[in-house]
Formats: sequence, structure tokens, C-alpha cells
Amino acid sequence: MSAPERIPPRSVTPPPDADELLARGELTVRGRIREASNAALYCTVSHDGRDAACIYKPVAGERPLWDFPDGTLAQREVAAYEVSEATGWGLVPPTVLRDGPYGEGMCQLWVEAAPEAELLALVDGEEPEPGWKAIGFAEVGEGRTALLVHADDERLRRLAVLDAVLNNADRKGGHLLPTGEGRLYGIDHGVTFNVENKLRTLLWGWAGETLTREAVDVLEGLRKDLEEGGVLAARLQPLITGAEIDATRARVGALLASGKHPEPSGEWPAIPWPPV
Ligand SMILES: Nc1ncnc2c1ncn2[C@@H]1O[C@H](COP(=O)(O)OP(=O)(O)O)[C@@H](O)[C@H]1O
Ligand SMILES: [Mg+2]
Repeated sequence: MSAPERIPPRSVTPPPDADELLARGELTVRGRIREASNAALYCTVSHDGRDAACIYKPVAGERPLWDFPDGTLAQREVAAYEVSEATGWGLVPPTVLRDGPYGEGMCQLWVEAAPEAELLALVDGEEPEPGWKAIGFAEVGEGRTALLVHADDERLRRLAVLDAVLNNADRKGGHLLPTGEGRLYGIDHGVTFNVENKLRTLLWGWAGETLTREAVDVLEGLRKDLEEGGVLAARLQPLITGAEIDATRARVGALLASGKHPEPSGEWPAIPWPPV
């Protein structure tokens, strides 16, 4: 989507002190994002002569969910950012918890997505073309089905690993933001870190395949950082419960033990609805 109002600078690679700007800057609401399922406000933040566009989701605007405790989506979004930072992959835009005009909430750097980047497609035939990975068959009306595919892209593959660690229950197409600079960001991480397996994603193209060497190295780093007293465990501690941190450590351990991308278990809808 495009922002309600265009305010420079556009966010591409975040400035190194983006967290500070987001956390300490003066927050001005510019508009409401209408298609959001929770209150999401497009804002600018300015501090020390610098400014940036961001999204602010106040906790007070969160819609209760049956399977997540009330008032925790903002913390989960920040926790997802912390894990992304610990991977070194930088897949989640800088995200902080802060006070704002509607009370405490999450504030995340706005990322301008490049609309021409093609990450998902619906194609004819049973097998994806080279450069694409199959997600599954989708009904496209008049009794016809088409193959839903995603790009065989190393950035998406990293995100698939991150989502498995986060236990992301909502990785849909609209939550993938490729930038004109060639970066890829994932957004909307409110429904993550549940202790039960809830992985729901479009990025099933590598299901059952061996993890890359790079992913294994990153997961080994996460395992260490998630140990009791580890840096990441300490950063997550104020954001999610101890049981949720333990479950995150267990997911990392299970990924390393299998050495493979997870496969759908079939007990829950593995694809988010709507998919885009
Ligand atoms: N950091 C961001 N940068 C750019 N666009 C964003 C960002 N966060 C959210 N959006 C836009 O706002 C919409 C609603 O945000 P989302 O995080 O999906 O909210 P909700 O939790 O209500 O589903 C997204 O679909 C996307 O278009
Ligand atoms: Mg959303």
C-alpha cells in the first residue's frame, strides 16, 4: 500500500541509530492505515534534526485474539525484531516499544516496498519453473486451480528460517516488503512466539529441504544467545513469557536436530488467510 501522505526520507537500509530515533523522537500521527486489522497509524518521528516515517500500533488498539493473551502483540513485534537482529539477517525493520499519543505501543520504521518485485505468482501446470518454488494449488474460480509459487530467493529462504524460529502464524504476501535497494523485510509479527506450533506461512517452498550452511551457523548462534543468561534471552525476557522463550529455544534446537526446513504438520491451516 502507499502511505496516506508522502514524507521523506524513504526508508531503505535503516540508519544505524534508527532504534534511538524511533524510541526517543517526537511522534506525529499523519494518518490511519485502513486495511489494518488492529489500529495502525502512519507517523513521522523526529529527533535531533532527523526524521523518518514509521508505523505506530498502540496496545490499546489491539483486537483480542482467542489464542494469544490480550495486549501482547506490540511486545511480540519487538521480540521478533530482537530475534531478527540476533540472526544478523536484518529481516525485520527496526521496531521499538514506546509511549505515543494513544499510549504504549510498537513503533516500526516504515519501509517503502518496490511494487515491481515479484515474489509470488499463480501459474499453470503442476511444477514450478526454475527460479520458483511451489506452495500449493489454489482455487482460481470456475472450478479451475492454479499453482501458487514463491520466488526461489535466498532472502525469502532466510525469512522462512526466521519464521520457523518465531513460530509466525501469519506470513502472508502483504507482509513481504522488497525494497528497490534489493533488501527484503518482513512485517506484522504480532502473532508469533506461541508455545504451540502455529507456523502459518506462504514460504513452504523449501519444506523438508536441508538447511543451508549459513542457516545452520545462524541457528547455532541463536541457540547460544537463547541460553539462560544469553544476550537474546535477556532481551526477550521483558517482552514474552519464560515459557515462550523456552519454546523458542526448543524450536531452534529442533531445527538444528533435523537439519531441515520444517514441513506442514497438517493439524492447522498452514497457509494464512487471505494469502496476500
Ligand atoms: N514497517 C512498515 N513499512 C511499510 N508498510 C508497513 C509497515 N508496517 C505495516 N505496513 C503496512 O500497513 C499494513 C497494516 O500493517 P500490519 O502490520 O499488517 O497490521 P495488522 O497487524 O493490523 O495486520 C500492512 O499490510 C502494510 O501495508
Ligand atoms: Mg497485517
